[in-house]
Amino acid sequence: MIKKEMLYEGKAKQIYKTKEDDKLIVLFKDDATAFNGEKKGQISGKGIMNNKISNIFFKLLADNNVPTHLLEEISETEVLVRKLEIIPVEVVMRNIAAGSLAKRLGLEEGTVMSQPVLEFYYKDDDLGDPMINEYHIYAQKMADREEIARIKELSFKINELLIDFLKDKGIELVDFKLEFGKGSDGKIYLGDEISPDTCRFWDSETREKLDKDRFRRDLGGVEGAYQEILRRLQG
Ligand code: TMP
Repeated sequence: MIKKEMLYEGKAKQIYKTKEDDKLIVLFKDDATAFNGEKKGQISGKGIMNNKISNIFFKLLADNNVPTHLLEEISETEVLVRKLEIIPVEVVMRNIAAGSLAKRLGLEEGTVMSQPVLEFYYKDDDLGDPMINEYHIYAQKMADREEIARIKELSFKINELLIDFLKDKGIELVDFKLEFGKGSDGKIYLGDEISPDTCRFWDSETREKLDKDRFRRDLGGVEGAYQEILRRLQG
């Protein structure tokens, strides 16, 4: 598939047109940002690692009847995907308190939630992705009730599938972010990526952080953590 002009450049990925209207190419970059772009850096080899990691998760989900945008891996850093009309809502699923949830509710990081927590954020960099609820989504027509019902159903299912898959690899799924969009067939598909950029992964035994928190919090060993996740997923 031939890459045509760049359609969009985000903080961690570039999106290209192809000669087919309903297919795009996503290129994973080594660039890393945190705190809504305030902190910038590079994680060497991240593009390759996140592409591989995300594809492993997306294939697992597709095998379990979760519709995803992934069509084909075309290089170490690129995938061919179904073009989606992105719904401007980020879904965060949480199993263990960390990050902004620990802060908001005054919980100690590592507190196990008694059930999974689903949160919505409005995808808008200028506003710093504020937290919203379903009423904001309907009032602002970001998505309708049927779409949100489907997104919630898929998000809980994805959480269960990922927890199960990661358990055998000695990885605890603390929390993660999902993005969904609508295909030209009107159906909801999972888009974006699932990687150490968008998830918190802890070693089940030691609770060592194996994700982007190492970059956000200057903990060192960032590349090694991403490599370790890829190694465990491939093993
Ligand atoms: P938070 O605790 O900072 O709200 O993050 C929750 C999860 O969402 C965590 O796994 C990281 C992920 N996330 C993103 O993928 N993109 C973002 O812009 C933010 C803020 C969080």
